[in-house]
Amino acid sequence: MSASDNHGSKGNQSAGLRSVFARHSEMQELRERLLSRRSFLLHGPAGVGKTLLISALLPEIPRVLYSPHNSTPQMLYRNLADGLLTAGYRQRFKSSSIAGKGARAIKGLVRDALCDSEYLVVLDHLAQPSQALAAAVRELKLSCSVSVIAVSRSDHMEDAGFVLRLFSDRKEKAALRNFDPDIATQFAAWCANKEGLQAGNISQFLERIVELSAGNPGAMVEMIRMAKSARYSHDGQIKVTPLYIDYRLATVAHT
Ligand SMILES: Nc1ncnc2c1ncn2[C@@H]1O[C@H](COP(=O)(O)OP(=O)(O)O)[C@@H](O)[C@H]1O
Ligand SMILES: [Mg+2]
Repeated sequence: MSASDNHGSKGNQSAGLRSVFARHSEMQELRERLLSRRSFLLHGPAGVGKTLLISALLPEIPRVLYSPHNSTPQMLYRNLADGLLTAGYRQRFKSSSIAGKGARAIKGLVRDALCDSEYLVVLDHLAQPSQALAAAVRELKLSCSVSVIAVSRSDHMEDAGFVLRLFSDRKEKAALRNFDPDIATQFAAWCANKEGLQAGNISQFLERIVELSAGNPGAMVEMIRMAKSARYSHDGQIKVTPLYIDYRLATVAHT
């Protein structure tokens, strides 16, 4: 099945406005994992589509809380409390807001609400989580029987940090990889079309970014968006080298 056949297929409709290109089998595997409600670590390089795929699937999954950033236990508990409020826990919290509540009180509320609740929590964008964060995740997993989906850039210590030891079994890890060259080529064309990118050398440009990105969709999207700027255009031709240098500099600055 080609990527365009996959695109817009039933499995991807829940993405709503955020359309997911290809990824049919990856979505299905993730869906099954999420529906089985067992903890796992989802890993893959920045821009590969982890957040996109998870966000597209969340509406299908009952009793799930999504925490986008988790640099400290306090941030984790606050995000979970926000999620519980949205999910209708207002009465239990005796407040429509958690503003003004101390970290300890929030942690207590979250623990009470989650313990034995069969909730699933998704912790996205884990970047070198500390021992303290890993202890909080461990507590949720072990003391409260909450299933945890942790998301990081790799399953190595430098990315997954101290949460890594909570997912020691091979079955508790799922990798999302860059597109292979064929799909990446189709994705680049789809994306350039969506962005309305035009240039005399568009085919060569797209070929180059497939290569330079190693099939990473986030990198391709970013370079295609940059290519629309007059700064990288001369006589109707996209200037790939300065564009790529600026792209790399911006990526390094964000990491
Ligand atoms: N399969 C895909 N279809 C469409 N866009 C994609 C796909 N995968 C990634 N993208 C785009 O690439 C960018 C990075 O994706 P994201 O989910 O944030 O990556 P990650 O969370 O792995 O760092 C986003 O703009 C996203 O929409
Ligand atoms: Mg992400």
